[in-house]
Parts: sequence; C-alpha cells; structure tokens
Amino acid sequence: MSPFVLNSYEEMSEEAAQRVITFIQQAQDPVTLCFASGDTPLGMFDALIKAYKQGRVHFEKCSFIGLDDWVGLTHDDPGGGRFTMDHAFFNFVGVPKQRIHFFNAAASDLALEVEKINRVIDKQSGIDLAVLGIGRNGHLGFNEPGSPFDGKAHVVDLETGTQTVGQKYFDHEMTLNRGITIGLKQIAEAGQVLVLANGKSKAQAVKAMIDGPYSERCPASILQRHPNCQVLMDQEAAQLLEEK
Ligand code: PGA
Repeated sequence: MSPFVLNSYEEMSEEAAQRVITFIQQAQDPVTLCFASGDTPLGMFDALIKAYKQGRVHFEKCSFIGLDDWVGLTHDDPGGGRFTMDHAFFNFVGVPKQRIHFFNAAASDLALEVEKINRVIDKQSGIDLAVLGIGRNGHLGFNEPGSPFDGKAHVVDLETGTQTVGQKYFDHEMTLNRGITIGLKQIAEAGQVLVLANGKSKAQAVKAMIDGPYSERCPASILQRHPNCQVLMDQEAAQLLEEK
C-alpha cells in the first residue's frame, strides 16, 4: 500500500484523475472500472470530465461496475449512488448505459441483484481499477466493520454512524438502514486500487487502514496486502499517520 500526501483536495483530485487517465491510456484491452459515488471523488470526476472535453481521455474501452447503493433507492432518486454517478460523471463522458452495471437497490428481489452483479464481475474477469473513498469507520463501499474479507456482493445492515453521515447526500431526512455493496474480496482482487481521502474526519480511518492491524474490524485494512494500491490524501486526512 503506497500513501501519497497532497497539499489540498484539488491536488488530490487532479492526481487521481491523472492516474485514471494513465491507466486507461496504457490498457490494451477493454477495462472494467469501479468508482465510488460519495463526495470524495467529485473533484476527480470534474477533472476527468474536463480532460474528456479537451480530448485527453475517452472511455470507449471502459465499462463500469457500481460499488454500492442505499437499499430502496432507484437510479432516479437524487442522492442515491447511481443518480450521483449519472449527474456527476456518466452523463458528461459519453458512456452508453449498456456499459454501466449498477445494483437496482429498489428491486424487490435484492438477492437477484447481488447475483447479477457477482455474475457481471466474474464475466469481466474482475475489476481492473477501483477508485474508492473510505468511511469514517473504515468501510469500503458498504462493507462495514466485521465484513468478511472473502465476501462477495451482499446486502448489509448499516451502522448507525453510516446512516447518520449518509444524510448529507439528501435534502430531506431518509431511512438509510440497509445498503447493497460489492464485497471485500472483489475489491481486494481488483488489478489496481486507488483510495482517496480528504479532511480530518477521515484521519482515524486512514490511520487504521495504513498503520493498524490487518483485521476485519477495519475493512480498509484488507488493502494492506494488495499488490497495487495507492492512497491519495490531503494533509488533514494524513495527520495521524506514523512518520516512516
Ligand atoms: P464520502 O463517503 O466520499 O462521501 O466521504 C465515503 C464513504 O463513506 O465510503
């Protein structure tokens, strides 16, 4: 796991976008990307859209897997994972819907949704590049503390803290007690992982991810054993890290 501390959120976002661009440029074959949909990657999405408009990158050989979503929300519900991705990224970079594979978190049969995404990931031979945020409790996607390191996609009861923090994505009070997410095994098997973290609210989780024990109690610590994982963060998120 390689940590990189940048001076600001803007620098972190530019650096993340550049790494995604380089990854796509160097890929010989079609690639499968998985981008988190929280607040953290929004700056990276803006930088990627700008690069796309300037002709510095295109996404023709990319397909996309949704990382997670709040159970009960459709793709058209503002604040939901898919809605956010459409409105912050997909709608601006010419990706046809057939190449976007997201959970339908409003489906009556969530087990089928889980199965569908597991099948897509298997069919694409896994995720090539995952760009993730990290939760204050160390979650990746909605893999909360205690999630098995060998887990695939599943439906999850969310911690109270995750439900409370999640209200920030919505303009009215929401019930956010369950999530649907790809599993830690699928994240750990991605060819390359970029974790982005900014702000002091993430400092504790970043420390646990990088300096803490390899333990299911901190889901993100699974990445300590990933052969190609970079963590890009601003100084606030990095403030508790041990000097190396
Ligand atoms: P955020 O969410 O990017 O909105 O901080 C990250 C997460 O909870 O995984």
